[in-house]
Amino acid sequence: MNVYDSARMADVLAPLGFEPTETPQGADMVILNTCHIREKAAEKVFSELGRLRRYKQEREAEGGRMIIAVAGCVAQAEGREIVHRAPQVDVVLGPQTYHRLPEMVAKVLRGLPDGGILDTDFPAESKFDHLPEAAAPQGAAAFLSVQEGCDKFCTFCVVPYTRGAEYSRPVADVVAEAERLVEAGALEITLLGQNVNAYHGEAPDEGTWGLARLIRALAEIDGLERLRYTTSHPRDMDGDLIAAHGEVEQLMPYLHLPVQSGSDRVLEAMNRRHGADDYRRIVDRLRTVRPDLALSSDFIVGFPGESDRDFAETLRLVTDVGYAQAYSFKYSPRPGTPAAGADHQVPEPVKIERLAMIQQLLNEQQVSFNRASLGKVMPVLFERRGKQPGQLVGRSPYMQAVHALAPDSHMHGIADVRIEAGHAKSLAGRLSGRDSGAPAPRGLTFDGAEDALGAAP
Ligand code: 5AD
Ligand code: SF4
Repeated sequence: MNVYDSARMADVLAPLGFEPTETPQGADMVILNTCHIREKAAEKVFSELGRLRRYKQEREAEGGRMIIAVAGCVAQAEGREIVHRAPQVDVVLGPQTYHRLPEMVAKVLRGLPDGGILDTDFPAESKFDHLPEAAAPQGAAAFLSVQEGCDKFCTFCVVPYTRGAEYSRPVADVVAEAERLVEAGALEITLLGQNVNAYHGEAPDEGTWGLARLIRALAEIDGLERLRYTTSHPRDMDGDLIAAHGEVEQLMPYLHLPVQSGSDRVLEAMNRRHGADDYRRIVDRLRTVRPDLALSSDFIVGFPGESDRDFAETLRLVTDVGYAQAYSFKYSPRPGTPAAGADHQVPEPVKIERLAMIQQLLNEQQVSFNRASLGKVMPVLFERRGKQPGQLVGRSPYMQAVHALAPDSHMHGIADVRIEAGHAKSLAGRLSGRDSGAPAPRGLTFDGAEDALGAAP
């Protein structure tokens, strides 16, 4: 979501003459868009700010100026501390106020009030009503934010405090943005939300639509070949959404469905409001309607009170479900969350040991999932050039990175690739066309192969 938010900040600032640059040195403005989810991410902000202060001084020595802004969830949670500790920062803004960036920049340019600008409100109006239309996507895979915030209050998590209460964008807005993205060349859209399957947006007629209904409507858009959504909560996997996985062809057979732990005791203490077997049942139902569905998840090890037995239950769940990929983290106590003050914090060495164990298991599963792709032909959405000459890199339906030798005309298009080699984190293969081995990419029309890259969005 921060990637999406950063792109929208660029859209907001474009009318003022700002455009993205490759490096912070020499920039007129630098925005750090920050994450507060774990301590490590939050700490990075202050070390980055040290580096930026030097660039700012260099720029000033040359007679220029550099505005430094800190955006996102660290700004939301620690705005005052940033203003206090980092006087080089001109603007601090939360995730809900970036539509006001132009005013903030104008204020800075007019002369700063003491201590910089701090805007971390949760304004009553939605920022989406004040943002310009999103600019064309850079490639064929685009993000679209449909829902923000969270009302679940898992006891380890800062999101309900930093992003605020759940909010869903109206269906008509989402559909209009999706149509514009497809018009501009997007073949794949990932619907975003901290709790995306809790989506309940205002319907075009009356009432609200859930995520499944939204997905069915988006699948009607001509030229949109792939849909994904992230991140989901098991409690919001309702029957309609599960059914959509079996019925909507564009919905990719890959789902990130965080479970965090496999122990009922820990799940309860986390306030997840479901048990490990509830999760297993959801996975079974999904695989019944979509047998080739691959899963990904998030896991936290060393949550307060987690015993060896609880952790063994988590490993058992991983073994039962079998993941294509997953993220795992040591529990990180976050200020203001209930679990941070809980008794029985797990010692660091135990966390380290458990993390290594779960990561080994998850890695083995990832390798065997990738190995099972060998010999298969998969549609790949090519997104960028590879390191080797003539090579493009794209994504399989299961989000695996796939390398293949392919003409530039295939960039930002979908083509079938026969997988010939698998690595821990990626696959390699060869175009699998019926004719010359270089089929025209699906989903885009080109005037001529030579000129295809120029014609691509
Ligand atoms: N400590 C460790 N991991 C966390 N996550 C969220 N909060 C914490 C925390 N305090 C993880 C969860 C979540 C992912 C985005 O980050 O696994 O799903
Ligand atoms: Fe955080 Fe997700 Fe729980 Fe919401 S549902 S509190 S975002 S972990």
